[in-house]
Amino acid sequence: MSYFVTIKNLTKKYGELCAVDNLSFNVKTGEIFGLLGPNGAGKSTTLSVLTTLSDYNKGEIDVNGLDIRKDKMKIKQLIGMVPQDIAVYSHLSALENVKFFASLYGRKGSDLTNSAKEALEFVGLADRASMKPKQMSGGMKRRLNIACGIAHAPKLIVMDEPTVGVDAQSREHILNSIRILRERGATVIYTSHYMNEVEEICDRIAIIDKGQMIACGTKQELVSLVTDVQSVYIETKLPIAFEVEDLKKKLKNMPDVKAVAAEDNTIRIDISIQLNSISKILEQFLTLGLPIININSEVPNLDTMFLTLTGHELR
Ligand SMILES: Nc1ncnc2c1ncn2[C@@H]1O[C@H](COP(=O)(O)OP(=O)(O)OP(=O)(O)O)[C@@H](O)[C@H]1O
Ligand SMILES: [Mg+2]
Repeated sequence: MSYFVTIKNLTKKYGELCAVDNLSFNVKTGEIFGLLGPNGAGKSTTLSVLTTLSDYNKGEIDVNGLDIRKDKMKIKQLIGMVPQDIAVYSHLSALENVKFFASLYGRKGSDLTNSAKEALEFVGLADRASMKPKQMSGGMKRRLNIACGIAHAPKLIVMDEPTVGVDAQSREHILNSIRILRERGATVIYTSHYMNEVEEICDRIAIIDKGQMIACGTKQELVSLVTDVQSVYIETKLPIAFEVEDLKKKLKNMPDVKAVAAEDNTIRIDISIQLNSISKILEQFLTLGLPIININSEVPNLDTMFLTLTGHELR
């Protein structure tokens, strides 16, 4: 099996802050690899180091057999970066923008024009080629941002939260485009803090939190890390001024409880599967005078896994 990217013990600090902390992972050639983590986890920092935009403190990075310390320029040529913050020029049309970015990778003449047009077509903006970014909707700008990153046909496509702020239709279009890019032979690294997207399109997923690797594998492998855990959702009615944090603390202190999260009147409790752990939890609610309106339980999913392994929610 060949790896397109190998990252070993990567550490990147911003002053005292360790944004990426001894992170290691491999990306197989031809896979869609997801980097999943909450805000500030270090996803963008990792990608900016990998794409040679930032320096780093420690570690080894290999891209397609090239060492980043020695072959930075060659590695740059292999990568197409779709940045988290939309990076297009407002005074250029959509086509001019894509041509500009592809020209940075040595594309010229009719090859440049054709590949730029093809990239616009690919993201569904062929009929907007002469439009300037400011005339575009947020979703269209996101798609233009993608076209700018892929027009030079990079072998490795790095997408940093490409679906933020887009409607469901654009989102589906973007996710489908990523699948097609992979079918055409590209390796894709995709970051998101949307669990469902990552579950939907990624072959393997690395979960990072506070710059560190929490777990890495296929969805099934990740979920299997927490098969002894069950998520129980209890709907109650919290009185006005009720301190939900107190309830969470009480529940967390119970023996079989792994993690607790609250959203409005629904409390989610991840428990070890034990005979009477649910009844003890229900007793706790009743002792506090909280009514039980509804109870649901769920087999473990990536949400359970994240909450169990990190102790907090993804968002
Ligand atoms: N240029 C910078 N200077 C100082 N600190 C930075 C800089 N860029 C990022 N950081 C810090 O590094 C940490 C990791 O940030 P990063 O942007 O990599 O996270 P992220 O996982 O991409 O988050 P998000 O989901 O919000 O995009 C954060 O604590 C952030 O504040
Ligand atoms: Mg980011």
